[in-house]
Amino acid sequence: MQEKSTRKIYNIWAHFYDLFWPAIVHRRTTKAIGHMNIRPGESVLDVGVGTGLALTSYPSHARVTGIDLSEGMLRRARERAIKYDMNWVNLVLGNALELPFEEDSFDHVLLSHVVTVVSDPVRLIEETRRVTRPGGQIVIINHFQSANRVMARLEQWLCPLCQHLGWRSDLNLHDLIRETSLEVDYRYKLDQVDLFQTVFATNRPAKREAQAMAAA
Ligand SMILES: C[S@@+](CC[C@H](N)C(=O)[O-])C[C@H]1O[C@@H](n2cnc3c(N)ncnc32)[C@H](O)[C@@H]1O
Repeated sequence: MQEKSTRKIYNIWAHFYDLFWPAIVHRRTTKAIGHMNIRPGESVLDVGVGTGLALTSYPSHARVTGIDLSEGMLRRARERAIKYDMNWVNLVLGNALELPFEEDSFDHVLLSHVVTVVSDPVRLIEETRRVTRPGGQIVIINHFQSANRVMARLEQWLCPLCQHLGWRSDLNLHDLIRETSLEVDYRYKLDQVDLFQTVFATNRPAKREAQAMAAA
């Protein structure tokens, strides 16, 4: 199972992740969390919370839960939560493909740079939809396969190397949306030339039920 090797890889990444990754992602996650418009008392799940880079961007009036597979990454997130005195944050060790939460538990779910890390992105979205309340918000920040054919070829070619580093580079966003029936409200790139996209979707119950029936 890939999750076992992913855990090992991110336990190693945990030692130096914060040295360079904030420079790449912090502006993007902060902007997305601002757009989430989280109201007082609302609940947020940060899936694959990692070292907790996004934690300081959530409003303190939110109830934030972060989950991660890697003890090493989660330890860093705990240190961050203590350092910034964020007692409204709950950090949980667990697998995003089998989320240990009841249905409809969260108002907002953030998947920041995790859909291309798990072994089964479709299952991840299905689990995310299960724990998000009907009408709740699902936000995905990630790199997806380029629409440019040359770039897409390069990404496919680089994929085996990327997988050794802990992610895949060939996930196609349109395929993911089609396979999960995810209802996308809008998506954007922060800069004109940007490897990453931010996708905002609403958890429409009718679609979720149809999907569950189809899977049964
Ligand atoms: C690239 S990091 C992203 C961390 C953080 N969200 C960010 O944007 O900086 C991917 C994270 O997802 C976690 N992860 C990978 N597979 C997972 C799974 N099946 N369940 C929970 N977390 C997982 C990894 O341990 C790692 O911390």
